[in-house]
Amino acid sequence: MTRPDSHATFRVEMTDGSSRKRIAVIPGDGIGKEVIPEAVKVLKAAASAGGRDVVLTEFDWGADRYLRDGTTLPADAPEMFRREYDAILLGALGDPRVPGNQHGADILLGLRFKLDLYVNARPCVLFDSRLTPLRDRTQKDIQFTVLRENTEGLYVGMGGFFKKGTSDEIATQEDINTRKGVERILRYAFEFARQRGLKRVCMSDKANALAFGHDLWQRVFAEMRREYPEIESTHMYIDNLVMQMVRDPSQFDVIVTCNLFGDIASDLGAQIAGGIGLSPSGNIHPGKVSMFEPVHGSAPMIAGQNIANPMGAILAASMMFAYLGWTAEAKAMEDAVRDAIQEGNTTVDLGGNLGTREAGDWLTKRVARA
Ligand code: NAD
Ligand code: IPM
Ligand code: MN
Repeated sequence: MTRPDSHATFRVEMTDGSSRKRIAVIPGDGIGKEVIPEAVKVLKAAASAGGRDVVLTEFDWGADRYLRDGTTLPADAPEMFRREYDAILLGALGDPRVPGNQHGADILLGLRFKLDLYVNARPCVLFDSRLTPLRDRTQKDIQFTVLRENTEGLYVGMGGFFKKGTSDEIATQEDINTRKGVERILRYAFEFARQRGLKRVCMSDKANALAFGHDLWQRVFAEMRREYPEIESTHMYIDNLVMQMVRDPSQFDVIVTCNLFGDIASDLGAQIAGGIGLSPSGNIHPGKVSMFEPVHGSAPMIAGQNIANPMGAILAASMMFAYLGWTAEAKAMEDAVRDAIQEGNTTVDLGGNLGTREAGDWLTKRVARA
């Protein structure tokens, strides 16, 4: 059975056979500005070792720019990305000087929504048994992917205040679930499993409490699973799912869930697979310009100290190359990360003693040599 033991085995969604790709790079805030330069070093080395031509264009969107001139996501940005770029590599957005994270919502959620990147694929793959906090678990036990719906749910920003600031205040936050939205993420999950020979898809919701929105998930899932008789499709309520992820992660190949639950389950998945610093993600619309980023945020507490782990960003760049059809280069980057972990050439969160830049240097050299 093929298992998702490699980020590079991500289905090639967009390839025109071209040896030249145009990548938009948005480092963003905090450690995003430290890990993305390392990812850029490593991806350039991988591209050049493979005889590929990668054209990178950096965008300075983030808190500094927002506080300076109010810019978040320019109105023409989505169209520009669709027209002029093959993919986007993003760091993280979030800065304590912008408490409501307005710029982050505009840029990150803006790109996810406006580019209609309806799949957020977050592989949780344990590279080395020493890295999981779970007892007696080895690499074969932790190899699954969380597929998070990425364009609707509680994230759409519909809602409002009534009598704000008074003791009679009301705050609403709408949970949007459309048939089209639910169908396409569930379809992706089943196809993702089928194409990779994975046997198990687990859909998670909270239909026992959310009797309308998640009833729709239940009904679409019940209809669709009949089309995939070779796949063992199961359902778990989200509270049970997160418990089961800790109790026995080996029971999962593909987990598919809504936007908010996927956000939470993917941080848990990241941790059991070695830590948030190591976890990549792809915001994908098959066949269209897509965006790749580490799962972690801007980590303001550790920003500017050269201690953040750049591997999540580097594996996100690897997923991006795989998506673009540069499979060998993607694999070289992932193999380098694997080697670094095995040889102990890591940042402190993984038990090593390298700084962010030094970890990036090591990986760059390893990839260049490959
Ligand atoms: P976070 O992921 O930034 O940090 C959580 C914890 O993990 C912290 O202890 C941090 O030090 C650690 N950590 C994160 N990345 C690490 C790395 N690469 N190496 C080592 N340690 C790492 O989450 P948070 O603290 O909840 O959020 C901080 C800010 O980031 C907030 O403004 C939040 O909104 C934003 N955020 C942005 C994104 C994104 O842009 N995709 C994702 C998550 C959070
Ligand atoms: C993530 C982040 C974002 C999300 C935040 C920053 C809005 O936590 O990418 O996981 O919830 O999607
Ligand atoms: Mn998150």
